[in-house]
Amino acid sequence: MIVLITICIFISIGTNCNHRCSVRRDRKGFGVARWIEKKLEERRHRVYFIDPMELDLPLLDRMYKEMVSPSEKFVELRDKIKNAEGYIPVTPEYNRSTSGVLKNTLDYFLEEYYFKPSAIVSYSPGMFAGINAAQQLRLIFAELGSPSIPCSLAIPRVHKVFDENGHLIDESYDKRVSKFLDEFEWYVNALTTQRSKGTPY
Ligand SMILES: Cc1cc2nc3c(=O)[nH]c(=O)nc-3n(C[C@H](O)[C@H](O)[C@H](O)COP(=O)(O)O)c2cc1C
Repeated sequence: MIVLITICIFISIGTNCNHRCSVRRDRKGFGVARWIEKKLEERRHRVYFIDPMELDLPLLDRMYKEMVSPSEKFVELRDKIKNAEGYIPVTPEYNRSTSGVLKNTLDYFLEEYYFKPSAIVSYSPGMFAGINAAQQLRLIFAELGSPSIPCSLAIPRVHKVFDENGHLIDESYDKRVSKFLDEFEWYVNALTTQRSKGTPY
């Protein structure tokens, strides 16, 4: 039996080769994130797809909990993050780190993530698959109280794994993502069970 898991996928905003952020299909990460979303839905999970490009949040001034009268956009985002049982950030690598816009989105919240696991997906056009960004995200999610599962899904040469429309062309990834999501589900179920018994704080 698969327990219904509500999962947030955080995608990055793209600065693509042409620096045309408004052209959604040019973001390599968009196809990767949509593919993960599909895989989760095939497992009957509910997915909240969080796209900073659509959200268009300002640079952080106040965290959500410090806002006197948060706009509807922030309330909705907060509810999604609060209600989720796990998180999957999908990150590119920019200058050996994750995307600044992804981090800006994450930083608005804190307690909302507590005691729920994260599972990191990274990609790059080169052979290192964005592993530096993934390592940075491990630190960030640890600080957010959302420990990352040991396995991560690192996708090198992303342009050879997904076509220009974001469709998977390297079918070996179907097997890899299955193992990755099996492990994530295990941690989500384990921490959900423990949270139901209470949390230390
Ligand atoms: C400012 C900038 C810095 C980058 N730094 C790195 C890097 O450190 N390592 C890397 O593998 N790729 C780097 N890249 C290449 C990106 O990983 C590549 O453009 C990727 O497709 C970005 O993801 P996106 O298409 O989803 O926006 C960089 C790209 C930009 C625009």
